[in-house]
Amino acid sequence: MPERHEQLLQTLTQEYRQAFPRSEQGQERAAKVLVDGISHGARTYRPFPLRVRAARGAHITEAGGDSLIDYWQGHFANILGHNPPVVTEGLAAMLQEGYGLQTGLPEEREAEFAEVLARATSADQVRLTTSGTLATMYALMIARAYTGRTMVLKVGGGWHGANPLALKGVAHSDDGYDHVDSAGVPSSAEQEIVVTRYNDVDALERVFGTYGDQIAAFIFEPCPSIAGFIPATDEYMQAARHLTSHHGALLILDEVITGFRYCASGAQSLYGVQADLSTYGKVIGGGMPIAAVAGRSDLLALIGENARPRVWFNGGTYSAHPLSVEGGLLMLRHLIAHEDELYPALAEKGERLRQGIERVMAKHGVLARCTGGGNEVIQGSSLGTVYFPLHEDLEPRGAEELNDPRLCDVTMTERVLKLGLLLQGVNVMHGLGAISMAHTEEVLERTLEAFDAVAQRIRAEA
Ligand SMILES: Cc1ncc(COP(=O)(O)O)c(C=O)c1O
Repeated sequence: MPERHEQLLQTLTQEYRQAFPRSEQGQERAAKVLVDGISHGARTYRPFPLRVRAARGAHITEAGGDSLIDYWQGHFANILGHNPPVVTEGLAAMLQEGYGLQTGLPEEREAEFAEVLARATSADQVRLTTSGTLATMYALMIARAYTGRTMVLKVGGGWHGANPLALKGVAHSDDGYDHVDSAGVPSSAEQEIVVTRYNDVDALERVFGTYGDQIAAFIFEPCPSIAGFIPATDEYMQAARHLTSHHGALLILDEVITGFRYCASGAQSLYGVQADLSTYGKVIGGGMPIAAVAGRSDLLALIGENARPRVWFNGGTYSAHPLSVEGGLLMLRHLIAHEDELYPALAEKGERLRQGIERVMAKHGVLARCTGGGNEVIQGSSLGTVYFPLHEDLEPRGAEELNDPRLCDVTMTERVLKLGLLLQGVNVMHGLGAISMAHTEEVLERTLEAFDAVAQRIRAEA
């Protein structure tokens, strides 16, 4: 069967090749030594990804010299834009003093970072690590050890990094989300990871009704990226809290994206819910690699030296790397100090862009919608995706609808829009991505012009 939009894609691909020859050469070179030419699956797309040589604020500079507006923003981490002076100046000063690359020695700054993070998120204690993947893996190990149970409950499409304890039901396929995603994981993953439908309270009640006494933890994101950042309903969040407590399971909220993205804390604070354990990453490092498991001290006690049995959350040459800790401290202090101006401004930018995109698409007769708007709890958001419903009345609740090619034109989002916008000087992820404080009025306006131009091409194809 021919791919949807084959003709338009061929033309766009040809133009893209002509526009970015340096990136194509870069891909040829990289693919000889790096599998697929990249170091993270989300960084590639057909025919080849842009290679970048500079990044500042809302913009990136492609290897050949073109400047583009960027909504990928460091895997959604860079809430102030790329390389914000708030962080870079502090790190530069540290290195100037000849300090920062001596990892492996406890320092005062590390405790200060942990204090700021714990206070902001109402956690008793935290342990630091280097990636969100490790944070979610350790949180699940703690839950399994604490409860003496092995089953992990997660939502379809939920991404917690390539963590073997949650690598089921990540990518959409013909069976939806009912499959282990990766080879090489223990065969027990098939039975020990159970996948439920996000934002579906009835399904959650049913799964706890069936497996309640076997579930070690229910892990999910308050606004899953794969669900287009559609926020959990208040009812769902409260049900998750109630059902886990009632059945003796832990609630783990994966706030790797949502932490400090909607307010200067976890998104859970907006719901008035406290998870037993939470995972943080991305924004909290200010652009540097750092992540954390934060939560109840009786749970984190299981990783302590004297715990028996002990959870071996205990490695990481670069755990609490001094530059990461400093980057994180500078970022968290800034976000906390400016919370009242910053988050409403981000939400406003998000709303303006989402409404604008739907408007320009409709102007050209293209049915496109944006996700990422707020709900009764999350007042506004700087994250979003664009989808093309095949029927006007589609009301997506999560990943099941957005990633189903029978309901949405996924090729339009992931290929046509992606290449079309790159040719117009805008880099998006799943149709949009993350808006930062560096995305000024002018940048948003330019973005809408780019969407307008792509909408015209989509219209011309029809
Ligand atoms: C919700 C969530 N959890 C965990 C991870 C894994 O984090 P990392 O990429 O830092 O390992 C990600 C990364 O995208 C994520 O979005």
